Amino acid sequence: MKIAVVGTGYVGLVTGTCFAETGNKVTCVDIDMAKVEKLSAGQITIYEPGLEKIFLRNIKEERLKFTTQLEEAVEDAEIIFLLYPHLRERMVVRI
Ligand SMILES: NC(=O)c1ccc[n+]([C@@H]2O[C@H](COP(=O)([O-])OP(=O)(O)OC[C@H]3O[C@@H](n4cnc5c(N)ncnc54)[C@H](O)[C@@H]3O)[C@@H](O)[C@H]2O)c1
Repeated sequence: MKIAVVGTGYVGLVTGTCFAETGNKVTCVDIDMAKVEKLSAGQITIYEPGLEKIFLRNIKEERLKFTTQLEEAVEDAEIIFLLYPHLRERMVVRI
Protein backbone atom coordinates (compact mmCIF):
# COMPACT_ATOMS: atom_id res chain seq x y z
CA MET A 1 0.00 0.00 0.00
CA LYS A 2 1.23 3.55 -0.74
CA ILE A 3 1.08 5.84 2.26
CA ALA A 4 1.84 9.54 2.70
CA VAL A 5 2.70 11.03 6.08
CA VAL A 6 2.45 14.83 6.26
CA GLY A 7 4.58 16.18 9.10
CA THR A 8 7.74 14.25 9.95
CA GLY A 9 8.25 15.06 13.62
CA TYR A 10 7.97 12.64 16.54
CA VAL A 11 4.65 11.19 15.56
CA GLY A 12 5.14 11.30 11.79
CA LEU A 13 8.58 9.73 11.71
CA VAL A 14 7.61 6.87 14.02
CA THR A 15 4.38 6.30 12.07
CA GLY A 16 6.07 6.41 8.66
CA THR A 17 8.93 4.15 9.69
CA CYS A 18 6.65 1.54 11.26
CA PHE A 19 4.33 1.43 8.24
CA ALA A 20 7.38 1.00 5.97
CA GLU A 21 8.63 -1.82 8.19
CA THR A 22 5.34 -3.66 7.69
CA GLY A 23 5.85 -3.61 3.90
CA ASN A 24 4.21 -0.38 2.78
CA LYS A 25 5.76 2.26 0.52
CA VAL A 26 5.85 5.42 2.61
CA THR A 27 6.61 9.01 1.62
CA CYS A 28 7.04 11.43 4.51
CA VAL A 29 6.54 15.15 3.81
CA ASP A 30 7.78 18.09 5.85
CA ILE A 31 8.08 21.84 5.25
CA ASP A 32 11.45 21.85 7.05
CA MET A 33 13.95 21.41 4.22
CA ALA A 34 16.93 20.88 6.56
CA LYS A 35 15.06 18.08 8.32
CA VAL A 36 14.13 16.42 5.03
CA GLU A 37 17.74 16.62 3.82
CA LYS A 38 19.01 15.01 7.04
CA LEU A 39 16.44 12.24 6.95
CA SER A 40 17.09 11.57 3.26
CA ALA A 41 20.79 11.23 4.08
CA GLY A 42 19.99 8.59 6.71
CA GLN A 43 20.37 10.84 9.76
CA ILE A 44 17.54 10.25 12.19
CA THR A 45 16.18 13.42 13.83
CA ILE A 46 14.50 11.98 16.94
CA TYR A 47 15.33 9.36 19.54
CA GLU A 48 13.04 6.41 20.03
CA PRO A 49 14.51 3.11 21.23
CA GLY A 50 15.07 0.77 18.26
CA LEU A 51 13.78 3.21 15.67
CA GLU A 52 17.08 4.06 13.95
CA LYS A 53 17.73 0.47 12.89
CA ILE A 54 14.27 0.16 11.32
CA PHE A 55 14.55 3.65 9.77
CA LEU A 56 17.87 2.81 8.06
CA ARG A 57 16.68 -0.60 6.87
CA ASN A 58 13.59 0.83 5.22
CA ILE A 59 15.46 3.67 3.50
CA LYS A 60 17.93 1.11 2.15
CA GLU A 61 15.13 -1.17 0.95
CA GLU A 62 13.38 1.84 -0.67
CA ARG A 63 10.15 1.64 1.29
CA LEU A 64 10.76 4.95 3.12
CA LYS A 65 11.56 8.31 1.56
CA PHE A 66 11.33 12.00 2.43
CA THR A 67 10.32 15.10 0.52
CA THR A 68 9.21 18.71 0.91
CA GLN A 69 6.87 18.30 -2.09
CA LEU A 70 3.34 17.61 -0.87
CA GLU A 71 1.97 16.78 -4.34
CA GLU A 72 4.69 14.21 -4.97
CA ALA A 73 3.79 12.42 -1.74
CA VAL A 74 0.02 12.42 -1.97
CA GLU A 75 -0.70 11.92 -5.69
CA ASP A 76 -0.57 8.08 -5.57
CA ALA A 77 -1.19 7.63 -1.87
CA GLU A 78 -4.01 5.36 -0.74
CA ILE A 79 -3.82 6.66 2.84
CA ILE A 80 -2.66 10.12 3.95
CA PHE A 81 -1.82 10.78 7.59
CA LEU A 82 -1.81 14.44 8.69
CA LEU A 83 0.63 14.57 11.60
CA TYR A 84 1.68 18.19 11.83
CA PRO A 85 0.65 20.74 14.48
CA HIS A 86 -3.00 21.58 13.98
CA LEU A 87 -4.74 24.93 13.90
CA ARG A 88 -5.67 24.99 17.58
CA GLU A 89 -2.00 24.56 18.57
CA ARG A 90 -0.94 27.39 16.25
CA MET A 91 -3.64 29.66 17.69
CA VAL A 92 -2.46 28.90 21.22
CA VAL A 93 1.08 29.91 20.24
CA ARG A 94 -0.17 33.28 18.84
CA ILE A 95 -2.24 34.18 21.95
N1 LIG B 1 4.18 13.87 20.34
C1 LIG B 1 3.16 13.30 20.95
O1 LIG B 1 3.32 12.53 21.93
C2 LIG B 1 1.74 13.50 20.46
C3 LIG B 1 0.72 12.77 21.07
C4 LIG B 1 -0.58 12.92 20.58
C5 LIG B 1 -0.85 13.81 19.54
N2 LIG B 1 0.17 14.50 18.99
C6 LIG B 1 -0.17 15.40 17.88
O2 LIG B 1 0.47 14.94 16.68
C7 LIG B 1 0.82 16.06 15.88
C8 LIG B 1 2.32 16.03 15.59
O3 LIG B 1 3.01 16.07 16.83
P1 LIG B 1 4.60 15.86 16.89
O4 LIG B 1 4.92 15.67 18.34
O5 LIG B 1 5.02 14.84 15.89
O6 LIG B 1 5.10 17.31 16.45
P2 LIG B 1 6.57 17.76 15.95
O7 LIG B 1 6.67 19.21 16.25
O8 LIG B 1 7.60 16.82 16.47
O9 LIG B 1 6.50 17.56 14.38
C9 LIG B 1 5.64 18.29 13.54
C10 LIG B 1 6.30 18.35 12.17
O10 LIG B 1 5.36 18.88 11.25
C11 LIG B 1 6.08 19.73 10.36
N3 LIG B 1 5.11 20.62 9.74
C12 LIG B 1 4.52 21.75 10.24
N4 LIG B 1 3.65 22.26 9.36
C13 LIG B 1 3.67 21.46 8.27
C14 LIG B 1 3.00 21.46 7.02
N5 LIG B 1 2.10 22.40 6.72
N6 LIG B 1 3.27 20.48 6.13
C15 LIG B 1 4.17 19.51 6.42
N7 LIG B 1 4.85 19.44 7.60
C16 LIG B 1 4.60 20.41 8.50
C17 LIG B 1 7.13 20.40 11.23
O11 LIG B 1 8.20 20.91 10.45
C18 LIG B 1 7.55 19.23 12.13
O12 LIG B 1 8.64 18.50 11.56
C19 LIG B 1 0.38 17.31 16.66
O13 LIG B 1 -0.89 17.72 16.21
C20 LIG B 1 0.32 16.82 18.09
O14 LIG B 1 -0.59 17.53 18.89
C21 LIG B 1 1.45 14.37 19.41
